[in-house]
Order: sequence, then structure tokens, then C-alpha cells
Amino acid sequence: MSEEALRERVHGWQQGALALDLAFIGVHGGLFDRLAEGAPMAPEALARAAGLDEGYVRAWCQAAYAFELLEHDEDGYRNSPLGEAFRAERRPTLLPAAVGSLFAAHMAERAAGLMTSGERPGESVLAERETLLRWFGPMLEAGFGGLFERQILPAVAEFAEVDAKGGLAVDLGCGNGWYLRILARHRPHLRGLGLDGFAENVRQARELAEREGLGDRLSFREGDIDHFASEEPADLIAMNRALHHVWDQRERVFNLIRDHLKPGGVAVIWEPAWPDSVDALRTPNRRPMAFQNLAEYVQGNHFLRPAEIEAAFAEVEMESRLYTFNDGAEAVVVGRRPG
Ligand SMILES: C[S@@+](CC[C@H](N)C(=O)[O-])C[C@H]1O[C@@H](n2cnc3c(N)ncnc32)[C@H](O)[C@@H]1O
Repeated sequence: MSEEALRERVHGWQQGALALDLAFIGVHGGLFDRLAEGAPMAPEALARAAGLDEGYVRAWCQAAYAFELLEHDEDGYRNSPLGEAFRAERRPTLLPAAVGSLFAAHMAERAAGLMTSGERPGESVLAERETLLRWFGPMLEAGFGGLFERQILPAVAEFAEVDAKGGLAVDLGCGNGWYLRILARHRPHLRGLGLDGFAENVRQARELAEREGLGDRLSFREGDIDHFASEEPADLIAMNRALHHVWDQRERVFNLIRDHLKPGGVAVIWEPAWPDSVDALRTPNRRPMAFQNLAEYVQGNHFLRPAEIEAAFAEVEMESRLYTFNDGAEAVVVGRRPG
């Protein structure tokens, strides 16, 4: 590649990163949402409507206009189609790209600093940026909800099996509860219990379930996966992007899963599928996983090969079956407790 081509490529990345940073500000401040409500607005009016400082809002409007996130005329600013596409409520929404970009910058900064000592501070690093905290749930929901609803849910027959019994589905490390909400919408007899260690996630999960009229079928608790206990045995136990967080406790976790399932019940574990060879990482669908694995390293975790999950099921005498999605980048391993 010529020097000029290299430069052009990197400038493209730089512009992209700046645009995503500005989009995050627009999302977090509710600025795209306010602008979507009606007529164009001058920065003063937008700042008033969003309850934000006028000086910051004016500077953001100018920058967002420069990056084509906003349009501008004598009446004021309005969302461009690009800016509109980042709104959290929209489906599909580009919100995960904006939140993910900021989160990546934070994790890259931590990894760069920690590389000298080798220290791995654990999951507390996730809570270091207050503005990011409330966006983890919406980012994961918008990033993976569609794949679950359109591909995984129809492909994994065990969901219908639980529904037919009006059974209980447990989600360990449930985040904002999107998985149980989608499941409950499509499988109308099933009940759900979600557990997460992060209070903000549980708060959002309860609120969103109520808002969608699912409050009587879904409940959420704050707690540690390692100490999960439920009096009612489950028909299905799900873990989505949560197993790698507790992999160092896998013996305990897999025993706990088996012991909380009814005979014949299933565990449905969804994880990014870490490939056997580094060569496979250089594809657009696996690149984010490669970066995320570095961010996981800072947190004391690492991504798993599907064969490792299958082996962990075998250790507790559960037979497993592997489904893959997104050209092999996503693995769903279903383990069944003997009947
Ligand atoms: C990557 S997020 C995935 C969240 C959700 N399952 C989803 O797919 O959007 C991992 C989740 O596991 C939770 N978690 C990690 N370790 C946990 C533990 N030991 N006990 C309870 N929750 C835990 C985190 O709070 C976080 O919400």
C-alpha cells in the first residue's frame, strides 16, 4: 500500500472515531431525541429542552453539523438521517457503534497504562466512566437483540419446549433483561427470572419489563451468579456473554446450573466463538471480538472456544449441542440434564 493510501485509510478511521464520539454525546445528552420531537432548534432552545448547558450544546451542534450528524438552516439545527440513526429508541439503531467506540477508547487507555505492570484490575474498570454505565444495557440489546430474535430463537428448538410447559427460564448475568423480554414476547407461556450483579442493570430490567407489560411474567434480582439459588427448579438456564465472566469458577457454575435444572432441562449458553487460530480473527465479523478480548483481559477474563464450553458440560455429565451464527463468530451451546 502506498504512503498516500495508508494516510487516507488512517484519516478515514480518525474521522469515523470523531463522528462516533460526537454521536455518543448526542445520544447521552438526549440531543438527537429532543431534535426529533419537532421543528428545528437553535442551540439555546435545544439546551433548554434537554436541560443542558447552552455553551456545550452550541459547540456540540457546530461539531455535529461538521460531521453531518445535524443539518442547519436559518431556523436552527435538526437531525440528519445519520444523526437520527443513532437514536436509542429506533430499530435498528446505530447506538452500539457510538457507545462501543467510547467504551473501546476507555478500555484501550486502561490496557495501555496497565501493560507495564501486568495488573488486571477486574470488572471494576467498567464502572470507572459514569456516563457509560447506563448505556451498557441498551448497547447490548441493540447489538444482539436482533440476532437473537431473528436467528437464534427460531433455530434453538428448546425454547418452544419450555414454552409448551409454561416453564421457568432463568438468565444468569441478564444485563438489562432484553433476552428474557424477547423470549417472553415470542413464547407467551414461559416465565422468566433474571439475575445480574450490577444494580443499574437490574433497575433497567425491571423498568423495561413493566413498560412492556411483562412485569407479571418476568422478575429480576441483583446477585452473584456463583451464589445463585432458586427454590423452583428451572426448565431452561441461559447465560449470554456472561460465562466468560465467571470462567474461573466454572466447576462451581456448571454444577450449579445442572443442580438448578429439572431433569431433562436445558442450559443455553451464548458466547462469542473464540477461534482455534489467530488467522480467523482478521475478518470484519470477528475483529470486534479480538478487541473485546483485550478489554476482557483487563477485566481478568478471556473469550472461550466452543469446545471448552462443551467440555465443561461433559464434566457435569450433560450432553451438549453446538449451534453457530454470524458465520461462526457466535456460538450457542445447549447442554441437557439427563432426564
Ligand atoms: C457482557 S454482559 C452481558 C449481559 C447480558 N447477558 C446481555 O447479553 O446483554 C455480562 C453481564 O454479566 C454480569 N455479571 C458478570 N459477572 C457476574 C457475576 N459473578 N454475578 C452476576 N452477574 C455477573 C454483568 O453485570 C453483565 O451484566
